[in-house]
Amino acid sequence: MSNGLQTVSYIAASVLFILSLGGLSSQESAKRGNIYGIIGMFLAIMATAFGGSTHGHGILIASMAVGSLIGIIVAMKVEMTAMPQLVAILHSFVGLAAVLVGFGSYLDAHTQTLQGAAKSIHLVEVYLGIFIGAVTFTGSIIAWGKLQGKIMSRPLMYPGRHAVLIAIVVASMAMLIRFLDMGTDAGLQILIIMTVLSSIMGILLVMAIGGADMPVVVSMLNSYSGWAAAAAGFMLSNDLLIVTGALVGSSGAILSYIMCKAMNRSFFSVIFGGFGAAEGAAAKPSDQAIVGEVKPISPEETVDLLKESKHVVIVPGYGMATAKAQYSIFELVNRLKAKGCDVKFAIHPVAGRLPGHMNVLLAEANVPYDIVLEMDEINPDLPETDVVMVVGANDIVNPSALEDPSSPIYGMPVIEAWKAKHVIVSKRSMAAGYAGIENPLFYKENTRMLYGDAKKTVDLLVASLDK
Ligand code: TAP
Repeated sequence: MSNGLQTVSYIAASVLFILSLGGLSSQESAKRGNIYGIIGMFLAIMATAFGGSTHGHGILIASMAVGSLIGIIVAMKVEMTAMPQLVAILHSFVGLAAVLVGFGSYLDAHTQTLQGAAKSIHLVEVYLGIFIGAVTFTGSIIAWGKLQGKIMSRPLMYPGRHAVLIAIVVASMAMLIRFLDMGTDAGLQILIIMTVLSSIMGILLVMAIGGADMPVVVSMLNSYSGWAAAAAGFMLSNDLLIVTGALVGSSGAILSYIMCKAMNRSFFSVIFGGFGAAEGAAAKPSDQAIVGEVKPISPEETVDLLKESKHVVIVPGYGMATAKAQYSIFELVNRLKAKGCDVKFAIHPVAGRLPGHMNVLLAEANVPYDIVLEMDEINPDLPETDVVMVVGANDIVNPSALEDPSSPIYGMPVIEAWKAKHVIVSKRSMAAGYAGIENPLFYKENTRMLYGDAKKTVDLLVASLDK
C-alpha cells in the first residue's frame, strides 16, 4: 500500500472513530456508533498492517488471527455482569503494549542514531510512554482483580501512602533527567528501575480505591490507556495511534468527570482513594440512628398493590443484572401497561457496575427507550407515583446520601424513591450494596421488602397478574 493511500485510510479511520464516539452518546445511535468504530478499526489495522513500513506479514497475520479468535471467544462468553472486569483487563493490554513498544523503540537501531533535540524528544516519549503504560498495566490488573472478587475490594490504607506515591513520581522524574544523558546500557537500567517503580505505583493507586469509587477508576484507567496508546503513537511516529489515543484519553477523562459529578465526589478524592467497602458485606451502621422497622410483603400482596396503581416507576440496580431479571421485568411492564398502568424506568448514572449498565440490559430485553428515564428527569415525578419498585438496587436509592452528613455517600445524588406513595424493594436479604452501608429506605413507613432473587420474584408477579 502506498503512503498516500495509508494517509487517506488513517484520516478516514480518525473520522469514523469520532463519529463512533458521537454515536455512543445516545442509546438510539449507539449501534450505529459501534458499527462506525468497527469499520474504522478494520481500516486502521489494514492500513497499518499493509502500509509501506510494515514487514513480516506472515507472523503479523498469524498473530492477528490468534488475537481475533481469542477476542471473539471472550466477547461471546462474557456475561454482562463481568463486563467491567473485561474492560479493565483489556485496558491492561494497552498499558503492556505501550511498555513493550517503549522498550522496543529504545533498543531500536534507529533510536541510537538520533542526535540532539530529536534524540531528547524521542527519549522523553519513550520514558513517559513506559511510565503511563506501566501504571495502566498494573492498575488495570488490580482493578480487574477487585471487580472479579479476587482481591479485597476494601481500600488498602496505610500510613504515609500519599507520600509513597509522591516519592515514586519525584524519583521517576528525577531519573528522567539522568536518562537523557545516558548511554544505551545505563539508560536501559534506568528504564527498568522506572518500570518497576511505576508498576508499583499502579498497584498502590488502585489498591487504595474501593467500593463505590470503582466505576471512576475503570474509566480513569480507560483514559490512561488512551494516553498510553497516544504515547506509543509518538514513539512509532504513527499519527492514527496518536489521534485514537487522544480520543480515548480525553473521552475517558470526560467520562470520569461526569461520573464523579454523579457521585458528588471530587476527582482528586477518588484518585487518592480510601472510600468504600467489600461487596456483599453486612451493612455498616450509620452514625444517625435509623428509625422504623422492616416490613416484608408477599408477591400476592405486591400484585394487589400494582393492580390498583396508575403510575409505577421501576428502579433497576446491580441485582437486576446478577439475577438476569430484565426480560421478566419487561414482561411485568407489558402486563401492567395492558391493565392501563403507566410504567417508567428510572436510571441512576452509576447503577450496576459499569457506565450505562442498566440501559444496555434493558435494551437487550427490547424495552423501548421512551420509557427509560434518567434520574434527573424522573425525580420530580416521584411524589405523584403510586409505586416505586426497586429491583436489586440499594446505594442508588439510599436517602442517607441526602440526609446524613456522616454517610460515606453523603452528597451523591440518588433516586428519591421514598417520595412515592409506596416503595417495594425486591432483594434477597438486608445485605448492603456496593458502598457497604445501611439503607434507611428499607425502614421507611411506606416501604415493603419483597425478599427473593429478583428474577424469580418478578416471574411470580407476572404469573399472579395473569391469573
Ligand atoms: P448496589 O448498591 O450494589 O446494590 C445491589 C443490591 O442488589 C444488593 O444490595 C443486593 O442485595 C441486591 N442483589 C444482588 N443480587 C440480587 C439478586 N439475584 N436478586 C435480587 N437482588 C439482588 O447496586 P446499585 O444500587 O445498582 O448501586 C451501584 C453501586 O455500585 C454504587 O455504589 C456505585 O457507585 C457502584 N458501582 C457502580 C459502577 C457503575 S459505573 N455503574 C461500577 C462499580 C461500582 P441482596 O444481597 O440482599 O440481594
